[in-house]
Amino acid sequence: MDQFTHTNGRLHCEQVPLDALAGEVGTPAYVYSATTMRDHATRLKEAFAGLDPLVCYAVKANSNLAVLELLAKAGCGFDIVSGGELARVLLAGADPASVVFSGVGKSEAEMKAAMEVGVLMFNVESEEELDVLGAVATFLGEKPGVAIRVNPDVDPKTHRYITTGKKENKFGVDLDRGEALARRALAHDHLTLRGIQCHIGSQITDVAPYAEAVARTRDLALRLKADAPHLEYLNMGGGYGIFYKDEKAPAFSDYAEAIRPVVADCGLKLVMEPGRIIVGNAGVMLTRVVFNKTSGAKKFVIVDAGMNDLLRPSLYEGYHRMWPVVGEPPPPLGEEGDHDPVDVVGPVCESGDFLAQNRPLPTMVRGDLLAVMSVGAYTAVMGSNYNDRPRPPEVLVDGDRYAVVREREKHADILGNERPDAPYRAIGEATEGDAS
Ligand code: LLP
Repeated sequence: MDQFTHTNGRLHCEQVPLDALAGEVGTPAYVYSATTMRDHATRLKEAFAGLDPLVCYAVKANSNLAVLELLAKAGCGFDIVSGGELARVLLAGADPASVVFSGVGKSEAEMKAAMEVGVLMFNVESEEELDVLGAVATFLGEKPGVAIRVNPDVDPKTHRYITTGKKENKFGVDLDRGEALARRALAHDHLTLRGIQCHIGSQITDVAPYAEAVARTRDLALRLKADAPHLEYLNMGGGYGIFYKDEKAPAFSDYAEAIRPVVADCGLKLVMEPGRIIVGNAGVMLTRVVFNKTSGAKKFVIVDAGMNDLLRPSLYEGYHRMWPVVGEPPPPLGEEGDHDPVDVVGPVCESGDFLAQNRPLPTMVRGDLLAVMSVGAYTAVMGSNYNDRPRPPEVLVDGDRYAVVREREKHADILGNERPDAPYRAIGEATEGDAS
């Protein structure tokens, strides 16, 4: 469970009252519960007890260094998708031997950096990628671990933008090609086939597609195993859904029960890449009402956070619960209450800049504080500076104390790389300051 409770007329994160916190750190601000994150990581492992899975937290969900450190201490490995994420997990104290490198477009520089520190496996998604990885490995005299990412053609029944495991998606290779690709890896002197991986999508709230995808992936791994002495990992990716509105998000134990029979006794070690389920419900965004406004029949509440701070409603029609921090308690989970509906919108100059549409909310006035729930995943990481808006701070709460683990960005930070006086130059022409 998450650690956000409405007690004595105000919302708390663990024991910290969020109105007082907003008074100290300002708004908008992201606030995360350390206890919730630790608890989710631990309970996920416990649900799969006996299978001893390697839990590689998907860094893309929330890559704040303090969050990564906390999860490394809780025993997580990491799933990374870029050289930047590699640098982050190393800074956070990760053991490279528990890091898997995913992504359809790894650069040679990224491959080299990951090989040099010795990541556990590269999740390879195409023939060309395998060839380039093999060439980089040969050049460096390395023999990196490889997992082939297959696309088991299972419909995860989630939003089309976050579906990855169907034939028409850009990710992975189909099962037949996957077998051929795995055999190509096996035949390569500088690659070590260590696993088969799949990941069918994100925010999936039905365990059946998982069990199906993992079974298809397992069958391929077992077919290959006789010829592949180092093939020891079955990586089932991430994608477990959470509660945003009224979804019946499965419990950790539901996933474990569905997957246990598929993988038990198959002789392969289970790897998973969960992101959202660990951090999603561990975060809220605090934002203040700037103005109220009525236009025709519509009521707008304009707040100081916009689509640049929380993109999910505009991009995926994502629903985030929200409620005033101070005042009457929120309705029970899954219910909206019977207040008049309003659109909660931000200050960004786009009609798509909304956090909620037609949402029944108590009347709020200028300066009131609103908490937007379930923003621990895919929120701060997807933020931008659109409209020259500095990114909000990230605050980690643990018990009755808090730490600002990322400061509010300053305008100077945004302007830092701009060079309006940069001299024009012809192609190939050196200018003052170039390295000789
Ligand atoms: N592994 C791979 C290969 C992935 O592509 C992803 C997510 C994960 C693991 C972690 O998935 P999770 O357990 O967090 O569902 N921005 C979107 C979600 C994009 C997910 C991308 N890949 C959103 O806000 O809903």
